Amino acid sequence: MHRLLVYSLFVCTSLAFQFPFSIPIFKSKDSAHIEQAHVSPRIAIIGAGAGGTSAAFWISKAKERFGIDVEIDVYERSDYIGGRSTVVYPYDDPTFAPLELGASIFVDANKNLMRASKEFNLTLTAFEDDDSNTGIWDGQHFVLVIESGSYLKSWWATLKVLWRYGYTAPTRTKAIVQSVIDRFLGFYAPDSPRWDDLSVFTERFQWVSLTNQTASDFLEGNRVSPLFARELVEAATRVNYGQNVDEIHALGGAASMAATGASGVVAGNFLIFERFLQNSTANVFLNTNVKEIQRKPGTSLWTVYTSAGSQTYKGVILAAPFHQTDITLPSDLAELIPPQPYVDLHVTLLTTRSEHSRPGYFGLTSNAQVPATILTTHEGARAGGVEPEFNSISYHGKVRKVDGAAEDAVTDPESTVKIFSKERVPDEWLETVFGNVSWVYRKLWQAYPVLLPTTEFPPVKLDQGFYYVNAFEPFISTMETETIASRNVVDLLLHEEFGSGICGALLSGTENATQTTTPADFVLGWDC
Ligand SMILES: Cc1cc2nc3c(=O)[nH]c(=O)nc-3n(C[C@H](O)[C@H](O)[C@H](O)COP(=O)(O)OP(=O)(O)OC[C@H]3O[C@@H](n4cnc5c(N)ncnc54)[C@H](O)[C@@H]3O)c2cc1C
Ligand SMILES: *[C@@H]1O[C@H](CO)[C@@H](O)[C@H](O)[C@H]1NC(C)=O
Ligand SMILES: *[C@@H]1O[C@H](CO)[C@@H](O)[C@H](O)[C@H]1NC(C)=O
Ligand SMILES: *[C@@H]1O[C@H](CO)[C@@H](O)[C@H](O)[C@H]1NC(C)=O
Ligand SMILES: *[C@@H]1O[C@H](CO)[C@@H](O)[C@H](O)[C@H]1NC(C)=O
Ligand SMILES: *[C@@H]1O[C@H](CO)[C@@H](O)[C@H](O)[C@H]1NC(C)=O
Repeated sequence: MHRLLVYSLFVCTSLAFQFPFSIPIFKSKDSAHIEQAHVSPRIAIIGAGAGGTSAAFWISKAKERFGIDVEIDVYERSDYIGGRSTVVYPYDDPTFAPLELGASIFVDANKNLMRASKEFNLTLTAFEDDDSNTGIWDGQHFVLVIESGSYLKSWWATLKVLWRYGYTAPTRTKAIVQSVIDRFLGFYAPDSPRWDDLSVFTERFQWVSLTNQTASDFLEGNRVSPLFARELVEAATRVNYGQNVDEIHALGGAASMAATGASGVVAGNFLIFERFLQNSTANVFLNTNVKEIQRKPGTSLWTVYTSAGSQTYKGVILAAPFHQTDITLPSDLAELIPPQPYVDLHVTLLTTRSEHSRPGYFGLTSNAQVPATILTTHEGARAGGVEPEFNSISYHGKVRKVDGAAEDAVTDPESTVKIFSKERVPDEWLETVFGNVSWVYRKLWQAYPVLLPTTEFPPVKLDQGFYYVNAFEPFISTMETETIASRNVVDLLLHEEFGSGICGALLSGTENATQTTTPADFVLGWDC
């Protein structure tokens, strides 16, 4: 009786908020006893970001295709889906178009996200069409200003770039980035390797020299002019990963430069992850913190303890950076995961009537027009100057109403601005740079791993039935790569526990999985 009441309350609430997933209900002891007759094995997924939601989706593909009998429970300690991919609304008013607070772009080569957007009918916006100027600021001067969106589209071909750095640096860098992308596309091919250790995989992809040295050493070794690396490439590594070219590994550098086809979901990238869950029919437990995971004595099962109770699982997928989860694991497992520092990144979103940043702050004359996108380089500081006070400042167009709220369109709208910085930027600083600001929203993220050169990565498989998606992050940290990491993990887990993966009994990555002809738009996992 009591349980039924709770159930219907949940139903009402969920309908009121139109939650797209099934209702969080924990089995009480007595009901578990009654249902003992035919309990489906369960898989727990911890984290409802790109990694966890896509893991649920991949499992559901195997359920759909091969009738694998498994229940999926997704645990998320926050009250929303998307993790580091989430939006906020100017003035906290959802009739305004949302602004991405975390991950904002993915690119053409990101086939899972592109495919998901298409299948889920989500409208994309192209960042390349942006016609704003981009400047690279060294703390005291603009070392380069590129006109109208060409920074993203064709940084290697603009006259100003060629003028400052010569012809070979941009073209060689472009060739390197292209060869990385070509290899990367191998992730979607029928013969894509699977890995329980990323170092095996980096060897197979011949990417050791990309992860074992810094971007600047790698580029120099490939005869790219140091100035190009430390200004133009560094502008990209600083805005994408908050790190300089002489710190970040070269794969992180290449990922930062691969911007072709930069897109985002208009209504928010988190929608992809909501749809993954919706389509997976997983049970989703929001506001539910996972506290501890232990082996169930005498079995190969796992017990997951959460703020709402406990449950037994055949498989566990950890889809969050382990050291940030505060989960207690058996010590032999916890020891397997090396400490991994993350970059503290302050994101500041604001609205302002200033059409551009103030020239005075940048030492320009009062009639000068400051670029709408300002990236930064550490090169000034290296030469004895000062470190820029921010990593990037970008104007993101005008505040606007979402479609459907068009009748109250804003007259004389304000501009929206996004700032990334290592330190919190205080109100007085905002006034110095923008004059009058109206709405301000601040968020401190543990944004991405510190991508130091390495040849060793955390284990993907922690134990039988226990897998770690975010082992991939110190290699590449993006929304897309988390969906690739989860595909690999799900395939390994399902093979191990159910004898059949996302695409059936054949292991992807074996020669036998290779087909003689593969359509150009084939995406492994979607098309098998
Ligand atoms: C400001 C910023 C900009 C970025 N820009 C881009 C970009 O443009 N493009 C791009 O592709 N990537 C970008 N990234 C990186 C991208 O956001 C991440 O690589 C990706 O979203 C990570 O997804 P994930 O699912 O692995 O982790 P997360 O999104 O962090 O998800 C993990 C989830 O686990 C939950 N969790 C943690 N501990 C527990 C627990 N004990 N119990 C239950 N739940 C728990 C967390 O609440 C979280 O929701 C950006 C990141 C930031 C911060
Ligand atoms: C996709 O979205 C568009 C507009 O957003 C809508 O007109 C169309 O009917 C949708 N298609 C499907 C298959 O949902
Ligand atoms: C990085 O790996 C490459 C290729 O295996 C090797 O030749 C090089 O010596 C390594 N460099 C460092 C700094 O370890
Ligand atoms: C998931 O998506 C597939 C393909 O679009 C569709 O056939 C299936 O019915 C969806 N399942 C759910 C539960 O939405
Ligand atoms: C900032 O703008 C608001 C609204 O236009 C105005 O009320 C306020 O006085 C302005 N503040 C300053 C310091 O200019
Ligand atoms: C792959 O195919 C060959 C012959 O076609 C067969 O002998 C072998 O067992 C297959 N391997 C797997 C893993 O299925």
